[in-house]
Amino acid sequence: MKRDFIDLWNLDPEESWYLVRRTEEIKREKDAPQVLRGKNLGLLFTKPSTRTRVSFEVAISQLGGKAIFLQEKELQLSRGEDVKDTARTLSRYLDGVIIRTHSHTWLEEFTRWSDVPVINALTDKSHPCQVLSDVYTLYERFGEGIKGIKIAFVGDGNNVCNSWIVAAGLFGLNLFVATPEDYGPDSYYLQAGLDLSSFTGGNIYLTTNPVEAVKDADVIYTDVWFSMGDERREEKLEALKPFQVNGDLISRAKDSVLVMHCLPAKKGEEITEDVFERFAEFIFTQAENRLHTQKALLEFLFTRQ
Ligand code: CP
Ligand code: NVA
Repeated sequence: MKRDFIDLWNLDPEESWYLVRRTEEIKREKDAPQVLRGKNLGLLFTKPSTRTRVSFEVAISQLGGKAIFLQEKELQLSRGEDVKDTARTLSRYLDGVIIRTHSHTWLEEFTRWSDVPVINALTDKSHPCQVLSDVYTLYERFGEGIKGIKIAFVGDGNNVCNSWIVAAGLFGLNLFVATPEDYGPDSYYLQAGLDLSSFTGGNIYLTTNPVEAVKDADVIYTDVWFSMGDERREEKLEALKPFQVNGDLISRAKDSVLVMHCLPAKKGEEITEDVFERFAEFIFTQAENRLHTQKALLEFLFTRQ
């Protein structure tokens, strides 16, 4: 049976902790396991990417496989070929497909028709590879104490926020989410996070007050206010202004607070330049860890049934 990775709930809590711990070993080991030797993986991207594309390509190469970058505009998809025909064709050539696209529904349809594992590299709804890696970054810092820290997600209730909610449920973390009323997370992801929390002991709180969310927080996480494909609107910008991660907001958190950002950042909007630079070392370690986590994920998906 192929193992897809479309959302974090495709892993159970035991598997997700295994991956975090395995990432630590992989990051430390000099030579990556050659688990993708002889395998060809496609990266089908319809949106720009710096970190996800490059970290996956390098991860695949270090695991002994070959990555083939497929831009939508160069495929017959751009001329209207069916998703299901594309998926069935690519399944005959490739051993796996990593997809970044606008529509989560499109990704789900592709996955249904694909005979080979599909990995979600970001959709309008979720970004599970990012958040799996972010949990590893916190595990690297806090160890098993990660369950006791307070994490505040502040800003737009977007794809990254949705995946954070599921991660809180899956790993049993304490997550406070502060978004404007009209820009909250997706209710389906929220329910999934809450359902998982009831098994793992996680806590997920939603608020429209960023100060409440960051009070005594160990970690503040933010992301852009306008995601790829989200049209810029004055009204949304105004609603999000009180959610900017700036010096004043972080002074409400613990003195030892860490700030995370999945990148790319729009400095002056969701985060000020001075706060970004103060936490740059941590933020770029967060970016680096995408590579290590994805190696653990690829090893898991291609070696476990
Ligand atoms: N964080 C992230 O996914 O970055 P890219 O858009 O550059 O891949
Ligand atoms: N929410 C952002 C994340 C970018 C990695 C977007 O979808 O554009």
